[in-house]
Amino acid sequence: MDEHRGEGRGRGFRKAILINEHFVVYGVPAVAVPVFRPVEVSVELHRPGKGIRLWGFPGAGKGGDGEMVQAARAVMQGLGIDPEPGELRIRCRDDLPNWSGLGSSAGFCVALARALCEALGRSCPDETINRAAYQGERIFAANPSGIDNTVATYGRSLWYVRGRTPPWEWIRTAGPLRLVIGSSGLPASTREQVERVARFKEERPSVFSALLEEAGALVRKARGELEVGDWPSLGESMNQGHAMLRRLGVSHGVLDEMVAFCLREGALGAKLTGAGGGGCMIALVEDAELGTRIAAGLQRMGYPAICVEPGAEDHRGGP
Ligand code: PMV
Repeated sequence: MDEHRGEGRGRGFRKAILINEHFVVYGVPAVAVPVFRPVEVSVELHRPGKGIRLWGFPGAGKGGDGEMVQAARAVMQGLGIDPEPGELRIRCRDDLPNWSGLGSSAGFCVALARALCEALGRSCPDETINRAAYQGERIFAANPSGIDNTVATYGRSLWYVRGRTPPWEWIRTAGPLRLVIGSSGLPASTREQVERVARFKEERPSVFSALLEEAGALVRKARGELEVGDWPSLGESMNQGHAMLRRLGVSHGVLDEMVAFCLREGALGAKLTGAGGGGCMIALVEDAELGTRIAAGLQRMGYPAICVEPGAEDHRGGP
């Protein structure tokens, strides 16, 4: 870094995993869609100076400033920047604070990587941003599949297979997809949930491998439904996905209650999304009117909720 002062801004998208969170960590394909409620970061670099300071902590609910600072350093290393660059001031704007499960930590890492590149006058391709953000994600999740940072970078619906090169391919969804996203308000730690699944695998290997098989078949079916716009069948697949995640032990009574409410109110399908154990759930609805009504119902029960249309914007090439 050779300037005495630099400023930059960046955005990273959120995501909702439609099918196969957790299973994706073990190489089973997963489908995720972007949620256009980005995390925004601005940075100021000052030299001389010392240390990383954070404002507007992006309520990822996953640690504390210590983890955020470590993640910031990891992102910088991923970009090939000296992680002790003088003073780095990071400001974050997050309009869904504490909504875990939507990839806000990945959104933060991507936004930070973009902001740093701008502050240093570098033009960083999406590929570089994605790689650097993955390094930051490793601080939050220990063994992340990479699906979150990929959607946070590209803002497109994708099919993700860990271990392939590249691990993702774009999916074209037939027509608008409408989702209600509800937040349980319960903090969720991706790391703890991923470790819980690892214990399940160790303790019940044959049940786990049968679940992986089932997850593989389910996601292939769901992809077809998404591509032809068979929303009722996709809703069924989401219900099946939720049942499998319950069997893994990563749901929560509150999430189950929210899912049941959405189904009773006419959603085509509903499930937890992200790491679970708290955090968010999603419900597939036929139209925006029903989605708005269901979101209002969740709010009345005390759960913040929104109705979104993932994929409504095309952010090819990044924000
Ligand atoms: O809860 P989130 O937004 O951190 O999503 C975690 C998704 C997992 O599949 C559980 C983990 C991963 O690395 O893919």
